[in-house]
Amino acid sequence: MTSSDSQQAPLGVFDSGVGGLTVVRALRELLPNESIIYLGDTARVPYGSKSPDTIRRFSMEDTQFLVSHGVKAVVVACNTATAHALPTLQATFRVPVIGVLEPGVEATLSDPGCERVGIIGTAGTIRSSAYQYALAMRKPGLQIHATATPLLVPFVEEGWTEHPALKLVLKQYLDPLLEKGMDTLVLGCTHYPLLMPILNNMLGKKVRLVDSASTCAAHTQRVLEQQNLLRTARSKPSLEIYLTDLSEQAEALAKRFLGTDFGKVKKANL
Ligand code: DGL
Repeated sequence: MTSSDSQQAPLGVFDSGVGGLTVVRALRELLPNESIIYLGDTARVPYGSKSPDTIRRFSMEDTQFLVSHGVKAVVVACNTATAHALPTLQATFRVPVIGVLEPGVEATLSDPGCERVGIIGTAGTIRSSAYQYALAMRKPGLQIHATATPLLVPFVEEGWTEHPALKLVLKQYLDPLLEKGMDTLVLGCTHYPLLMPILNNMLGKKVRLVDSASTCAAHTQRVLEQQNLLRTARSKPSLEIYLTDLSEQAEALAKRFLGTDFGKVKKANL
């Protein structure tokens, strides 16, 4: 590929399901001239309850799919995959591979007043300690309380983001963090931005919510700039969405996550 071909090539983004479309939304806001190919591994979601080896294998297959479609860079829009597979992906593929974790840490520490951080994420993400470690390295003395919240992804995938049952579940998960005096809550899962309204409602202004989607988009912009990979073409950029399992519910949910309509979802065979 010439350097101009690389510039015009699409950006690849993947997640275990449709949650990563929250990152696509942020990318499209910040980089409206980029074409994007999204892969959601809906046939195998959730990744959060799988073993590190399985998560790495799935992430390799997802990245391989995107690379075989000619992407110029890959955004891992899944905290679980980032926590377990990012170094392997970066060592294996020649295109830049960008994760969501570092941008999440950056966004958390962007407020110097942040002293007591709560982290919620899938069991896999929390068990990896990747967030806890990265935060503690950057800000020694920071109080960090992480809790796995495995019931939240099914609620989001079901579209039950306002359901009274969700409120009860969130209360169970968050009360211990609130008792510790949490001032910042890291939403360590790309499904959780859809919980912003209910979380804002429950936590009010006491707790700052950190969502890594917009920071991840800003990070991606910097990488594309540094590597001279920003798309220069003036034609309309494309958005292609592939899912490994097609269902009406996944398509409807994808539209909600993305906040806009898009063409037909395609079936991906990994
Ligand atoms: N979107 C994934 C993440 O950010 C969570 C969903 C899953 O468990 O696969 O970790």
